[in-house]
Amino acid sequence: MAKIKIKSLVINYFKGIKELALDFTYPNNTEKLLDNIVIYGVNGSGKSTILEAIYLCLIVASAYHEKNDLKRIEDFLVDYISLGSEWIYNKEKEFHIVIEIIDHEKIKKGELTYSQKEGLKWSIDHKLSSDFFGSFTYLSSYRLLNPSTVQSAGDWSEIERIEDEAFRERTRYARSPRHPMYRRDNYFPSLSLQFENNYKTVKQYLVNLITDKKVEAITSENDAILEKIKQSFKIFFPKKDFLEQLSRTDNIKDYRLMIKNEDGSVVDLDQLSSGEREIIAFFTFLCTKAISNSILIIDEPELHLHSKWQSILLYAIHQIFPNSQLFLATHSSEIHQSASESELFELQKEEE
Ligand SMILES: Nc1ncnc2c1ncn2[C@@H]1O[C@H](COP(=O)(O)OP(=O)(O)OP(=O)(O)O)[C@@H](O)[C@H]1O
Ligand SMILES: [Mg+2]
Repeated sequence: MAKIKIKSLVINYFKGIKELALDFTYPNNTEKLLDNIVIYGVNGSGKSTILEAIYLCLIVASAYHEKNDLKRIEDFLVDYISLGSEWIYNKEKEFHIVIEIIDHEKIKKGELTYSQKEGLKWSIDHKLSSDFFGSFTYLSSYRLLNPSTVQSAGDWSEIERIEDEAFRERTRYARSPRHPMYRRDNYFPSLSLQFENNYKTVKQYLVNLITDKKVEAITSENDAILEKIKQSFKIFFPKKDFLEQLSRTDNIKDYRLMIKNEDGSVVDLDQLSSGEREIIAFFTFLCTKAISNSILIIDEPELHLHSKWQSILLYAIHQIFPNSQLFLATHSSEIHQSASESELFELQKEEE
């Protein structure tokens, strides 16, 4: 059973939303929370704004421990997601968001306000459990798929010679955390910022994971992540093989991930189509951030995907992340159709 979910959200004067109250429980059973929240409506109706409001509350909630933290969190948000007074509706005085989080079956109510004068304020009526931290993921609609080179993950000569048993044993110790690539925050660098090149970072994740697997230095946590990534690959590409193999190009700094096509030809990740790359980047990103029991916030999950893939997307996400609660903003009629009636939230654009 999922431990962390969101029960309701009230937004006042946040970005393009003047006032809005949303309840994420079933209409006939307010005890039961929706697994999918599918938000649809015309351009500019506020879909992304709702997802941003949820994400904003969750990052503040997970970074906040005591009042002194607020300035630090605010500086971070101002620098990295350019939170500022332009986030307040129509130059009003402040925005105000109330979120109800279910944490181990208990309702916890958080309130976030931001004003130019007083900055950020956050309060919550019950302390969040340790499971809450890291229980959520946000994928914005700014997802870049440009083919890109990735940095060397350690010393290539070590990896080339790992067929040698004795060498493999030495390598395992030699390469561990000394290399800056292996610091936790470099291993899975943050992808939550809107303008980051997601695909490049995703490719780096995969190189790191496969390198570790090859030299048998992979942690069980990361091995589980790699298995999840392979599981998603199989759902969408049943006839292709993810080779877990790296090769190096003429550019010695570039590492390539090899994929075997149905006809036996082998290509690298950069040669896949944009839809294929989107699927791999999408699931790799989600897998590195969430295994299960998660709140997944995804803006326009349908990007680059053919309708056939759009229609299995909800199914695939729940297969790979059991017990998750999904918040989606979408224009896809296939995703719309694959959700149940009570999971659909239509937004109307406010009259000017
Ligand atoms: N501070 C603000 N005050 C008033 N309106 C704002 C403010 N900030 C953004 N908006 C408006 O809010 C709307 C943005 O909404 P949002 O990005 O949530 O739309 P959306 O439903 O995701 O649309 P799309 O389908 O195009 O992605 C825009 O029309 C924008 O002009
Ligand atoms: Mg949007």
